Amino acid sequence: ARVAVLRGGHSMERDVSFVTGRRVQHALERLGHEVHPLDVEETTTGALMELSPDAAFICLHGPGGEDGTVQALLETLGVPYTGSGPLSSIRCMDKDYAKRALRAAGIPTPPSRTFLRRAMNEMGASAALDVAADSLGYPLVVKPAREGSSFGLSRVEGPDGILDAVYEAFGYDAKILLEGWVDGTEVSVPILEPAGEEPSVLGLVEIRPREGAYNFEAKYTPGATDFAIPAEVAPETAARLRETALTAYRTLGCSGYARVDTIVESGTPQVIDVKTIPGFTETSTFPLAAEASGLTFEDLVETILDAALQ
Ligand code: DAL
Repeated sequence: ARVAVLRGGHSMERDVSFVTGRRVQHALERLGHEVHPLDVEETTTGALMELSPDAAFICLHGPGGEDGTVQALLETLGVPYTGSGPLSSIRCMDKDYAKRALRAAGIPTPPSRTFLRRAMNEMGASAALDVAADSLGYPLVVKPAREGSSFGLSRVEGPDGILDAVYEAFGYDAKILLEGWVDGTEVSVPILEPAGEEPSVLGLVEIRPREGAYNFEAKYTPGATDFAIPAEVAPETAARLRETALTAYRTLGCSGYARVDTIVESGTPQVIDVKTIPGFTETSTFPLAAEASGLTFEDLVETILDAALQ
């Protein structure tokens, strides 16, 4: 097929997107497809119309690519594309929307409070923040609502650190979350939905950073994080992880593939994030899980493309 590989874009995760895009591009070439890489920051609509591809393989991470905008453009142009549609993409990119939908469906997700930059300016920061932080307790996490790869995210140990963390997060997004800390095991759950089949869990990936948190360094530096595939959890916990992740995937209306990130505390998986375009870098959990399940990277890419073309 003639495939446009969309990568780059203007988000903070532009560089990560190029890594995902390069790997996908090479896999598609090895599979014999006609591949046209496009940088979404420079060109999109005109190039897509001119190219008229059979499908677009979207390798964009973060706002402006993973958030429904490019998906809506492709719908308008009538170009089939990989992964989730515009509505699901918007919901998953925005952790405020995602968590509301998860809670409404009874899926455990850590407690959180949402703040808008405009409202903070109007009301003065500290009173509302103090009330929110007190009700969540410390430590807590402050994060932009619509970011990935841990950009703008801080763990706050006590009241002294809250304002700095809030300003940091507002540097990335006009909407931020304060989220209760969950002390547990991080398990990432990649889900694949081949053409004509039900979505299924590819594997359970337990994330063990060698030092500290699973932050940008730990995510993308080879060797900085160890993975246990399958995760070393009790069989009942594994079953709950699978069920919770699939319910989250369906609740948020994902299609093709997605990755559900959880923290397991006392046997209960709490969903912290759902990624509709998970990273496909050498250190990313989705391709590692695929490999552990016996799928090559090419198999994975072809399955996702087939689902787009069906
Ligand atoms: N946002 C990055 C790409 C990930 O979660 O894999």
